[in-house]
Amino acid sequence: MKRVLVTGADGSIGRAAAIGLYADGYDVTGLSLRYDHVSTADRPLVGDARSPDDVAAALDGVDAVLHLAAIPHPSLGTPEEVFENNVAATFNVLSQAGQRGIDRVVIASSINAFGVPMNVNPVVPAYYPLDEDVRADISDAYSLSKSVDEQSARMAWRRWGTNVIALRFPLVKSRKDLLRFAAKAESDPSIMAREGWAYLDLRDGVAAIIAALESSVTGAHVVGLAADDVLIDRPTDELLREYAPTVPVRRPVAGRDALVDTSRARDLLGFSPRYSIHNDDHTVSAITS
Ligand SMILES: NC(=O)c1ccc[n+]([C@@H]2O[C@H](COP(=O)([O-])OP(=O)(O)OC[C@H]3O[C@@H](n4cnc5c(N)ncnc54)[C@H](O)[C@@H]3O)[C@@H](O)[C@H]2O)c1
Repeated sequence: MKRVLVTGADGSIGRAAAIGLYADGYDVTGLSLRYDHVSTADRPLVGDARSPDDVAAALDGVDAVLHLAAIPHPSLGTPEEVFENNVAATFNVLSQAGQRGIDRVVIASSINAFGVPMNVNPVVPAYYPLDEDVRADISDAYSLSKSVDEQSARMAWRRWGTNVIALRFPLVKSRKDLLRFAAKAESDPSIMAREGWAYLDLRDGVAAIIAALESSVTGAHVVGLAADDVLIDRPTDELLREYAPTVPVRRPVAGRDALVDTSRARDLLGFSPRYSIHNDDHTVSAITS
């Protein structure tokens, strides 16, 4: 595997992923509707991930695909725009890659794929820690688009034998941005309760992407991700008692333990997060060693 196509290459995860891939020795083709930043891909292309022609041109010489292009929040378009853009782009990228025999694709799903965190109704998760099988209850176009993307991944595996990892990203930001989000969430913890106050440092997001691209796992898999702790600087069981008292907790939690089960990421991809916003030097390993 030498050249990776990154769609959504001008986005926050796409730019960081392109840098990480380049640093690891890969060549990077970027695809984006437009570039507002200096591109971190060595072959940046302007194009629409929904367009068969644009994606065909972008796949030239490509060995694997990282598909990130999406409208990343339901508020950033009408429901029709969000659903159509996200689902059509993912299907087109998977279909074009599959028909060319590119056998490894990583796509961006979301912690929202099960629909509860953004639900307009007062529903709560069926249990914590959240895992990839937690019951879905969807009321917005963005969450639905991510759920359909996961189905499209399964189809691509069944139809073209494409190996697809759908990474369920939680809030993924740089440390600086995470600290800003944490301050906001601390002033009202209820706003992130239904996503279990989950987050992932952007550097860990890139590491998970590279682990998925380099994995030899076959088939289509949904993989949940999160840092090992919650975003808010409070004990997890205290947060649960106050903001999610009715949700069953399936295993004991201690300290600031995360409420996302990341065992599949560890078992399938060999990925464990390294970064926490709560540690002085920012790494989990530093406090355990
Ligand atoms: N950052 C997060 O916290 C987070 C959390 C969960 C899931 N995700 C998912 O990860 C992916 C990347 O997120 P991000 O935070 O980097 O978003 P972003 O908005 O920063 O980047 C997305 C990029 O995709 C491009 N794009 C959108 N539709 C396109 C199309 N049809 N063709 C070509 N380019 C298109 C946009 O122009 C943008 O540059 C998205 O799929 C998002 O849903 C992100």
